[in-house]
Amino acid sequence: MAHPTNRLYRLRSRPRGKVRDSDLEWLEEPVADLAEGQALIRTLYLSLDPTSRVWMSSTRGYMPPVELNAVMRGVGVGQVVESRRDDLPAGSFVQGFTGWQEYCLADASDLEASFTVLPDPLPAPLHTFLGVLGHTGITAYLGVEIGDPEPGETFVVSAAAGAVGSIAGQLAKQRGAQVVGIAGGAEKCRYVVDELGFDACVDRHADDWRDQLDKATPLGIDVDFENAGGKIMDHILGRLNVGARIPLCGMVADYNNDDEEAGHAGLPNLNQLLMQRVQLTGFIVSDHVDRFGEIIGKIAVALEEGTLRYEETVVEGLENARDTLNTIFSGGSRGKLVIKVGDPES
Ligand SMILES: NC(=O)c1ccc[n+]([C@@H]2O[C@H](COP(=O)([O-])OP(=O)(O)OC[C@H]3O[C@@H](n4cnc5c(N)ncnc54)[C@H](OP(=O)(O)O)[C@@H]3O)[C@@H](O)[C@H]2O)c1
Repeated sequence: MAHPTNRLYRLRSRPRGKVRDSDLEWLEEPVADLAEGQALIRTLYLSLDPTSRVWMSSTRGYMPPVELNAVMRGVGVGQVVESRRDDLPAGSFVQGFTGWQEYCLADASDLEASFTVLPDPLPAPLHTFLGVLGHTGITAYLGVEIGDPEPGETFVVSAAAGAVGSIAGQLAKQRGAQVVGIAGGAEKCRYVVDELGFDACVDRHADDWRDQLDKATPLGIDVDFENAGGKIMDHILGRLNVGARIPLCGMVADYNNDDEEAGHAGLPNLNQLLMQRVQLTGFIVSDHVDRFGEIIGKIAVALEEGTLRYEETVVEGLENARDTLNTIFSGGSRGKLVIKVGDPES
């Protein structure tokens, strides 16, 4: 097969604040010949995640930073177009670390780049395997399990209109909790209450967001599904009840805050973890690969029964990935944010 040209992003420098064109260079390169034990995968959808921004920085994370000049790391779904690997047959649809590129050479010896073959026929649209049936849906499920809300308890989730938060709040509601979301803007708050069925939603852009949160949580907070960090987390800490639980999922407010002098104001209410005897559990979805099948199965049943709603923001064109990533930090999207890279071959 004549090899196509690859289009991809290489990380040239570590961003400070917004990702600039010079941080992430958009290039065309030839695709190398396939060696024994390799498969060529064409990316069809690429997931854009807050953690993409963490991987670009030198922050000590749960995975090493992307090396300078390497192809940008990213999770995608794709189709195997040519294969010298028995486990990845040509034509199959796969999910894994495709990177921010149109074509990915999947080498069997590269564990970080291991791929999962998706079921045939596909039970749901391809891109859902990056969202509600992928890592963000699983993250929501795991965090709710850790927070373990009881009927009548108050459950608060930040980034509530986003990929993880929208699912987490609905799962907590199904357990009988009083669910309060926090989202950016009146329209997102309307969506969270009217369409997702949360009991209330606080607009984090409103001047009185602290008052809104206090009014929405008159009995205090029992579970904080924490996605934001920063001043939102600090205010929540000040309202936790004795024995509260915090599934610490993310701290998106910190991810593009690279100026150590200006940022990281800290959490003055941290002492409430002690005073209220709070259980805080940091968790990372990729530590629970052994449970992915079970959890995806449960979410798939809820989707089929119509008891769980999800939304996706699909942006066309890999060349738009860099600018679109920046919109995560201005709260530009609703539900799971994915880039459509191409159409499958029939
Ligand atoms: N632990 C894990 O394994 C795991 C896995 C996946 C994701 N996560 C974490 O889960 C969180 C949500 O991820 P996601 O993929 O579902 O993304 P998302 O919620 O779809 O997008 C991020 C949202 O965060 C909000 N946000 C941005 N800057 C903020 C700030 N300064 N303060 C408060 N909120 C801000 C914005 O929503 P609004 O403008 O509406 O507030 C934005 O849309 C992130 O912290 C992510 O790192 C963790």
